Amino acid sequence: MLLQIPEVFSKAEVAALRARLDAGPWADGNATSGHQSATAKKNLQLPEDSDVAKEVSALVVQALNANPMFVAAALPHTIFPPLFNRYEDGDQFGLHVDNAIRQSRTGGALRIRSDLSATLFLSEPEDYDGGELIIEEMYGSQAIKLPAGDLVLYPSKSLHRVTPVTRGTRVSSFMWMQSLVRDDADRETLFRLDIATQRVASEKGPKDQAVIELTGVYHNLLRRWTEV
Ligand code: NI
Repeated sequence: MLLQIPEVFSKAEVAALRARLDAGPWADGNATSGHQSATAKKNLQLPEDSDVAKEVSALVVQALNANPMFVAAALPHTIFPPLFNRYEDGDQFGLHVDNAIRQSRTGGALRIRSDLSATLFLSEPEDYDGGELIIEEMYGSQAIKLPAGDLVLYPSKSLHRVTPVTRGTRVSSFMWMQSLVRDDADRETLFRLDIATQRVASEKGPKDQAVIELTGVYHNLLRRWTEV
């Protein structure tokens, strides 16, 4: 499932984050690539151990953990500290699949299996040409270019690429996470059940017996499928 999560940050918050990020220090993006993707990538990234990256990364994680739609859809176990990239002057990222395992390069013990990938857009679409995130799905490819502050969540198993930026600058945060529910279809089923239960609750009230029973089914499925 590919999901757009609107307004993770307000426009004012995006402006404040951009002011911090734009000061750099930006470096060659191949510093963070896995073996397969190193040949296909041309962009700039903030080194993950830089003060700016660490500071803004923590704000992104905080905003995501406070976002009900994100939590319901991702069921996050661990979010690997988000990174930041910048595309301009023809920069692009060729077709690839994200690495299955992410391990901290900064000496920490953090290691995750990447179940979900996400891109948080920090430039407005009209400020650059190109730079679409193309995600290959079973039923074809989707071109994603969202307003600043919005995030797209997609399975890490998807082939994807970023088309060349031919005008302006595209700044974004990108990240990987391990979910409590490993299987994409199971996770999507839980998300749809969650939304349907909330719909019944809004019509009949949270104490309606159907709502209580559906909530029970949700938790009993989560208990079967979860890995903690
Ligand atoms: Ni990728």
